[in-house]
Amino acid sequence: MAENSSYPTEEQQPAHTSSLKRRHEEDSPEFGSPPKKQDTGEGHSLKVASHYNTLQECGLAERSRSRIVHLRNFNNWTKSILIGEILDKVRRERRDVAVLDLGCGKGGDLLKWRKGRISKLVCADIADVSVEQCRQRYDDMRRRSHPNERIFSAEFITADCSRELLSDKLSDAELKFDICSCQFVYHYSFESHSQADTMLRNACERLRPGGFFIGTTPDSYELVKRLEASDSNSFGNEVYRVTFRKKGEYPLFGCQYEFNLEGVVDVPEFLVYFPLLVEMAKKYNMRLVFKKTFREFFQDKIKDEQNRILLQRMQGLEQYPADGRGRLASDNPVEYHHAERIAKTPGVRLPLGTMSKSEWEATSTYSCVLYSLSSCGLPLCFFLSD
Ligand SMILES: C[S@@+](CC[C@H](N)C(=O)[O-])C[C@H]1O[C@@H](n2cnc3c(N)ncnc32)[C@H](O)[C@@H]1O
Repeated sequence: MAENSSYPTEEQQPAHTSSLKRRHEEDSPEFGSPPKKQDTGEGHSLKVASHYNTLQECGLAERSRSRIVHLRNFNNWTKSILIGEILDKVRRERRDVAVLDLGCGKGGDLLKWRKGRISKLVCADIADVSVEQCRQRYDDMRRRSHPNERIFSAEFITADCSRELLSDKLSDAELKFDICSCQFVYHYSFESHSQADTMLRNACERLRPGGFFIGTTPDSYELVKRLEASDSNSFGNEVYRVTFRKKGEYPLFGCQYEFNLEGVVDVPEFLVYFPLLVEMAKKYNMRLVFKKTFREFFQDKIKDEQNRILLQRMQGLEQYPADGRGRLASDNPVEYHHAERIAKTPGVRLPLGTMSKSEWEATSTYSCVLYSLSSCGLPLCFFLSD
């Protein structure tokens, strides 16, 4: 990747904060009145489990041909940086680090935990097939590792973490975690208050004092802003589409939408109204350390040379203009107007690192979140940002 990177610009001001906030104050069970939507039993959990169970893992070759390969790599880079920084922070205090990967999926973050030299990992997910694939990946990793490498021990749990308590299922009832990582998962639990609370409890109740809860989730401000700007119940572009049931009403729980990425209709997701999550987390003695959109996180972290090198290695950006052998992810020149404009600026060194406009629009619907637990209930005052 070149040192230069260019992105399509867009407004970042959250819109409709006031209508969301009003509903928050009126409806939140934490604020005196019952939630609008009651937990009706299974909800969408079965759908979620079977959706992820049937998702095929595609090989490297197929992945690299995907229209959204850079978006996926970029999201993965964002997780790597978030996880790496938090591990560095924890390691300053502790040698043996225990992690809960809440909604681990097929084990997409196993290598990050290996690189971070943790001691113990608990992987939990609602989808049993995914958990089994995660276990196999871990076993393979162990088998292929150098005999001198000390690979973390791992435990695998299939559970609906929005309805079941993980503490009842852990093999060691005394186990405490330094980190709970919940990547692209938490929004599934916002179907009802009790589900969101159980997920939060699973994330936080076994954290050591000073431990961290980190995560990534779609940004409700961004989703509502884009929805309100659209003239239908839906918005998106050639790589992603988000479809809401209704416009103008955003209940605190059960505000359902469908996120369709590269033509694959995903299972229902639910808006996570962030100030409510912050309030709910106080019950578990959690204090917010930061919340950043992917755009803000990128702008912050890309200043660091090591992070830039990693982004290049992970191919989170594509080269613009494409080199002789390569092709851009899209043949449509409109997708690269932003890069073309910068490339024509006198003095700019080519090639640039960039991403197609549609991929950037899709990935910029996400935010990273970092919480910290304070056993004595005092707010912690450190921030990860520089
Ligand atoms: C988008 S995938 C992310 C997987 C993984 N964290 C990653 O970043 O690669 C979302 C995962 O959340 C899991 N999930 C959704 N609802 C869940 C629940 N109630 N309990 C546990 N896992 C859940 C899904 O089965 C799926 O594996």
